[in-house]
Amino acid sequence: MKKTLAFALAAILSLGMLSGCGKQETTNEEAEAPAKEQLIMGTNAEFPPFEFVADSGEGIVGEYDGIDIAISKRIAESLGKELKVENMQFEGLIASVQSGKVDFAIAGMTVTEERKQSVAFSDTYFVAEQVIVVAPDNADITCAADLKNDKTVGVVLGYTGDAIVTDDLQIPEEKVLRVSRGIDAVQEVKNGKLDAVVIDSATGIALAKENGLKIVEDKEAFAAEEYAIAINKDNTELVEAINKVLAEMKENGEIDELAVKYNG
Ligand code: ARG
Repeated sequence: MKKTLAFALAAILSLGMLSGCGKQETTNEEAEAPAKEQLIMGTNAEFPPFEFVADSGEGIVGEYDGIDIAISKRIAESLGKELKVENMQFEGLIASVQSGKVDFAIAGMTVTEERKQSVAFSDTYFVAEQVIVVAPDNADITCAADLKNDKTVGVVLGYTGDAIVTDDLQIPEEKVLRVSRGIDAVQEVKNGKLDAVVIDSATGIALAKENGLKIVEDKEAFAAEEYAIAINKDNTELVEAINKVLAEMKENGEIDELAVKYNG
Protein backbone atom coordinates (compact mmCIF):
# COMPACT_ATOMS: atom_id res chain seq x y z
CA MET A 1 0.00 0.00 0.00
CA LYS A 2 2.70 2.39 1.09
CA LYS A 3 4.77 1.49 -1.92
CA THR A 4 1.97 2.14 -4.37
CA LEU A 5 1.37 5.50 -2.84
CA ALA A 6 5.03 6.38 -3.05
CA PHE A 7 5.06 5.24 -6.66
CA ALA A 8 1.98 7.28 -7.49
CA LEU A 9 3.51 10.30 -5.89
CA ALA A 10 6.74 9.87 -7.81
CA ALA A 11 4.76 9.53 -11.03
CA ILE A 12 2.81 12.67 -10.32
CA LEU A 13 5.96 14.54 -9.43
CA SER A 14 7.77 13.49 -12.59
CA LEU A 15 4.72 14.39 -14.65
CA GLY A 16 4.77 17.76 -13.04
CA MET A 17 8.42 18.12 -13.91
CA LEU A 18 7.81 17.06 -17.47
CA SER A 19 5.05 19.59 -17.94
CA GLY A 20 7.45 22.18 -16.63
CA CYS A 21 9.76 21.70 -19.61
CA GLY A 22 6.97 22.04 -22.10
CA LYS A 23 7.53 18.71 -23.88
CA GLN A 24 4.63 16.83 -22.49
CA GLU A 25 1.91 16.40 -25.05
CA THR A 26 -0.91 14.87 -23.00
CA THR A 27 -3.23 17.18 -21.17
CA ASN A 28 -5.65 15.67 -18.77
CA GLU A 29 -9.15 16.93 -19.49
CA GLU A 30 -9.96 16.89 -15.82
CA ALA A 31 -6.87 18.82 -14.85
CA GLU A 32 -7.46 22.19 -13.31
CA ALA A 33 -7.49 25.15 -15.66
CA PRO A 34 -4.12 26.86 -15.61
CA ALA A 35 -3.91 29.63 -13.04
CA LYS A 36 -5.01 32.89 -14.57
CA GLU A 37 -2.37 35.43 -15.34
CA GLN A 38 -2.32 38.21 -12.78
CA LEU A 39 -3.14 41.84 -13.34
CA ILE A 40 -1.56 43.87 -10.56
CA MET A 41 -3.14 47.13 -9.49
CA GLY A 42 -1.38 49.50 -7.13
CA THR A 43 -3.39 51.62 -4.73
CA ASN A 44 -3.37 53.27 -1.34
CA ALA A 45 -6.45 51.95 0.44
CA GLU A 46 -6.86 54.91 2.77
CA PHE A 47 -9.19 56.88 0.55
CA PRO A 48 -12.89 56.08 0.97
CA PRO A 49 -15.10 55.80 -1.04
CA PHE A 50 -12.52 55.00 -3.77
CA GLU A 51 -10.45 52.45 -1.88
CA PHE A 52 -10.47 51.29 1.68
CA VAL A 53 -10.04 48.17 3.78
CA ALA A 54 -13.49 46.85 4.62
CA ASP A 55 -14.33 46.98 8.34
CA SER A 56 -15.63 43.43 8.13
CA GLY A 57 -12.41 42.31 6.49
CA GLU A 58 -14.45 41.19 3.48
CA GLY A 59 -14.25 43.53 0.53
CA ILE A 60 -15.01 42.89 -3.12
CA VAL A 61 -11.39 41.81 -3.70
CA GLY A 62 -9.95 40.28 -0.54
CA GLU A 63 -10.22 42.89 2.20
CA TYR A 64 -10.34 45.76 -0.29
CA ASP A 65 -13.42 47.64 -1.36
CA GLY A 66 -14.45 50.86 -3.10
CA ILE A 67 -15.18 52.45 -6.47
CA ASP A 68 -11.63 52.00 -7.80
CA ILE A 69 -11.50 48.36 -6.72
CA ALA A 70 -14.77 47.72 -8.57
CA ILE A 71 -13.43 49.40 -11.71
CA SER A 72 -10.21 47.36 -11.50
CA LYS A 73 -12.21 44.17 -11.17
CA ARG A 74 -13.99 44.99 -14.41
CA ILE A 75 -10.68 45.71 -16.14
CA ALA A 76 -9.24 42.38 -14.98
CA GLU A 77 -12.38 40.52 -16.09
CA SER A 78 -12.25 42.08 -19.52
CA LEU A 79 -8.63 40.96 -19.91
CA GLY A 80 -9.37 37.49 -18.52
CA LYS A 81 -6.86 38.01 -15.72
CA GLU A 82 -6.91 37.64 -11.99
CA LEU A 83 -6.77 40.93 -10.12
CA LYS A 84 -4.13 41.36 -7.44
CA VAL A 85 -4.17 44.42 -5.18
CA GLU A 86 -0.87 45.94 -4.04
CA ASN A 87 -1.61 48.33 -1.21
CA MET A 88 1.14 50.88 -0.62
CA GLN A 89 1.92 54.49 0.28
CA PHE A 90 0.27 56.93 -2.12
CA GLU A 91 3.66 58.52 -2.69
CA GLY A 92 5.10 55.25 -4.04
CA LEU A 93 2.46 54.63 -6.70
CA ILE A 94 3.94 56.53 -9.64
CA ALA A 95 7.37 54.92 -9.16
CA SER A 96 5.74 51.48 -8.97
CA VAL A 97 4.01 52.06 -12.30
CA GLN A 98 7.26 53.24 -13.84
CA SER A 99 9.26 50.26 -12.57
CA GLY A 100 6.58 47.74 -13.55
CA LYS A 101 6.02 46.60 -9.97
CA VAL A 102 2.32 47.13 -10.72
CA ASP A 103 0.51 47.12 -14.08
CA PHE A 104 -1.46 50.23 -13.22
CA ALA A 105 -2.27 52.49 -10.30
CA ILE A 106 -5.81 53.50 -9.46
CA ALA A 107 -6.17 55.61 -6.36
CA GLY A 108 -8.50 58.53 -6.92
CA MET A 109 -5.44 59.96 -8.59
CA THR A 110 -5.74 63.44 -10.03
CA VAL A 111 -4.25 63.99 -13.46
CA THR A 112 -1.55 66.66 -13.16
CA GLU A 113 1.01 68.01 -15.60
CA GLU A 114 3.78 66.92 -13.28
CA ARG A 115 2.54 63.32 -13.05
CA LYS A 116 2.07 63.22 -16.81
CA GLN A 117 5.84 63.53 -17.15
CA SER A 118 6.22 60.16 -15.46
CA VAL A 119 3.20 58.04 -16.43
CA ALA A 120 0.45 57.74 -19.01
CA PHE A 121 -3.10 58.41 -17.87
CA SER A 122 -6.30 56.71 -18.98
CA ASP A 123 -9.40 58.72 -19.79
CA THR A 124 -10.80 60.36 -16.67
CA TYR A 125 -13.62 58.76 -14.69
CA PHE A 126 -14.46 61.14 -11.83
CA VAL A 127 -14.40 64.86 -11.10
CA ALA A 128 -13.62 66.19 -7.64
CA GLU A 129 -12.24 69.28 -5.95
CA GLN A 130 -10.62 70.05 -2.63
CA VAL A 131 -12.75 70.79 0.43
CA ILE A 132 -11.90 72.06 3.90
CA VAL A 133 -12.80 69.86 6.88
CA VAL A 134 -13.35 71.81 10.12
CA ALA A 135 -14.95 71.37 13.55
CA PRO A 136 -18.76 71.65 13.49
CA ASP A 137 -18.72 74.87 15.53
CA ASN A 138 -15.95 76.55 13.54
CA ALA A 139 -17.14 79.96 12.37
CA ASP A 140 -13.93 81.60 11.18
CA ILE A 141 -13.11 79.38 8.25
CA THR A 142 -15.62 80.05 5.50
CA CYS A 143 -13.36 79.97 2.44
CA ALA A 144 -9.84 78.98 1.42
CA ALA A 145 -8.38 82.44 2.04
CA ASP A 146 -9.38 82.20 5.71
CA LEU A 147 -6.78 79.46 6.12
CA LYS A 148 -4.11 82.12 5.70
CA ASN A 149 -5.22 83.80 8.93
CA ASP A 150 -2.83 81.96 11.18
CA LYS A 151 -4.69 78.65 10.87
CA THR A 152 -3.09 75.23 11.27
CA VAL A 153 -3.84 73.03 8.29
CA GLY A 154 -3.46 69.30 7.81
CA VAL A 155 -2.77 67.66 4.45
CA VAL A 156 -1.74 64.23 3.26
CA LEU A 157 1.82 63.98 2.02
CA GLY A 158 1.94 64.00 -1.76
CA TYR A 159 -1.78 64.56 -2.36
CA THR A 160 -2.83 67.44 -4.59
CA GLY A 161 -4.20 69.09 -1.43
CA ASP A 162 -0.63 69.27 -0.14
CA ALA A 163 0.52 71.15 -3.25
CA ILE A 164 -2.47 73.50 -3.10
CA VAL A 165 -1.94 74.39 0.57
CA THR A 166 1.81 74.73 0.13
CA ASP A 167 2.20 76.33 -3.31
CA ASP A 168 -1.12 78.02 -4.12
CA LEU A 169 -2.30 79.18 -0.70
CA GLN A 170 1.27 79.50 0.56
CA ILE A 171 0.44 78.52 4.10
CA PRO A 172 3.70 78.86 6.07
CA GLU A 173 5.52 75.58 6.70
CA GLU A 174 5.18 75.76 10.49
CA LYS A 175 1.39 75.87 10.13
CA VAL A 176 1.14 72.77 7.95
CA LEU A 177 0.91 69.25 9.33
CA ARG A 178 1.69 66.55 6.77
CA VAL A 179 0.43 63.06 7.58
CA SER A 180 0.31 59.87 5.57
CA ARG A 181 -3.43 59.17 5.82
CA GLY A 182 -6.43 61.49 5.58
CA ILE A 183 -8.00 59.96 8.67
CA ASP A 184 -4.96 60.97 10.78
CA ALA A 185 -5.35 64.63 9.85
CA VAL A 186 -9.12 64.51 10.40
CA GLN A 187 -8.58 63.03 13.88
CA GLU A 188 -6.44 66.06 14.77
CA VAL A 189 -9.29 68.40 13.84
CA LYS A 190 -11.59 66.30 15.98
CA ASN A 191 -9.14 66.54 18.90
CA GLY A 192 -8.90 70.29 18.47
CA LYS A 193 -5.20 70.13 17.57
CA LEU A 194 -5.66 71.35 13.99
CA ASP A 195 -7.99 73.99 12.59
CA ALA A 196 -8.60 72.38 9.22
CA VAL A 197 -7.78 69.66 6.72
CA VAL A 198 -7.67 70.19 2.97
CA ILE A 199 -8.53 67.02 1.09
CA ASP A 200 -10.51 65.72 -1.94
CA SER A 201 -14.27 66.26 -1.77
CA ALA A 202 -15.73 62.76 -1.71
CA THR A 203 -13.15 61.56 0.81
CA GLY A 204 -13.45 64.74 2.90
CA ILE A 205 -17.21 64.37 3.04
CA ALA A 206 -16.96 60.68 4.00
CA LEU A 207 -14.36 61.32 6.73
CA ALA A 208 -16.20 64.38 8.08
CA LYS A 209 -19.43 62.44 8.34
CA GLU A 210 -17.77 59.54 10.16
CA ASN A 211 -16.17 61.94 12.65
CA GLY A 212 -18.91 64.49 13.24
CA LEU A 213 -17.08 67.31 11.46
CA LYS A 214 -18.22 69.73 8.76
CA ILE A 215 -17.16 70.65 5.27
CA VAL A 216 -16.42 74.09 3.85
CA GLU A 217 -16.42 74.38 0.06
CA ASP A 218 -14.72 77.03 -2.05
CA LYS A 219 -15.26 76.33 -5.73
CA GLU A 220 -13.55 79.58 -6.70
CA ALA A 221 -10.29 78.77 -4.96
CA PHE A 222 -10.25 75.04 -5.63
CA ALA A 223 -10.24 73.99 -9.27
CA ALA A 224 -11.92 70.84 -10.51
CA GLU A 225 -9.64 67.79 -10.45
CA GLU A 226 -10.09 64.77 -12.66
CA TYR A 227 -9.26 61.25 -11.60
CA ALA A 228 -7.67 58.77 -13.98
CA ILE A 229 -5.70 55.53 -13.95
CA ALA A 230 -1.90 55.72 -14.20
CA ILE A 231 -0.23 53.26 -16.58
CA ASN A 232 3.34 52.75 -17.70
CA LYS A 233 4.12 54.98 -20.68
CA ASP A 234 5.37 51.97 -22.65
CA ASN A 235 2.14 50.03 -22.23
CA THR A 236 -0.13 51.68 -24.80
CA GLU A 237 -2.01 48.40 -25.18
CA LEU A 238 -3.14 48.53 -21.57
CA VAL A 239 -4.07 52.21 -21.87
CA GLU A 240 -6.36 51.29 -24.76
CA ALA A 241 -7.84 48.27 -23.01
CA ILE A 242 -8.56 50.31 -19.88
CA ASN A 243 -10.09 53.17 -21.86
CA LYS A 244 -12.41 50.69 -23.53
CA VAL A 245 -13.66 49.39 -20.19
CA LEU A 246 -14.05 52.92 -18.79
CA ALA A 247 -16.03 53.98 -21.87
CA GLU A 248 -18.35 51.00 -21.45
CA MET A 249 -18.82 51.67 -17.76
CA LYS A 250 -19.62 55.32 -18.38
CA GLU A 251 -22.03 54.52 -21.15
CA ASN A 252 -23.99 51.80 -19.40
CA GLY A 253 -24.21 53.75 -16.15
CA GLU A 254 -21.97 51.45 -14.10
CA ILE A 255 -19.72 54.30 -12.95
CA ASP A 256 -22.75 56.31 -11.79
CA GLU A 257 -24.07 53.26 -9.98
CA LEU A 258 -20.76 52.81 -8.20
CA ALA A 259 -20.73 56.48 -7.16
CA VAL A 260 -24.21 56.09 -5.69
CA LYS A 261 -23.39 52.79 -4.04
CA TYR A 262 -20.23 54.00 -2.34
CA ASN A 263 -20.95 57.70 -1.91
CA GLY A 264 -24.42 57.18 -0.54
N1 ARG B 1 -6.64 63.15 -5.70
C1 ARG B 1 -5.51 63.32 -4.84
C2 ARG B 1 -4.23 63.19 -5.61
O1 ARG B 1 -4.24 62.67 -6.69
C3 ARG B 1 -5.51 62.38 -3.66
C4 ARG B 1 -5.54 60.93 -4.01
C5 ARG B 1 -5.32 60.03 -2.81
N2 ARG B 1 -5.61 58.67 -3.12
C6 ARG B 1 -5.42 57.60 -2.31
N3 ARG B 1 -5.83 56.44 -2.71
N4 ARG B 1 -4.82 57.72 -1.16
O2 ARG B 1 -3.19 63.58 -5.17
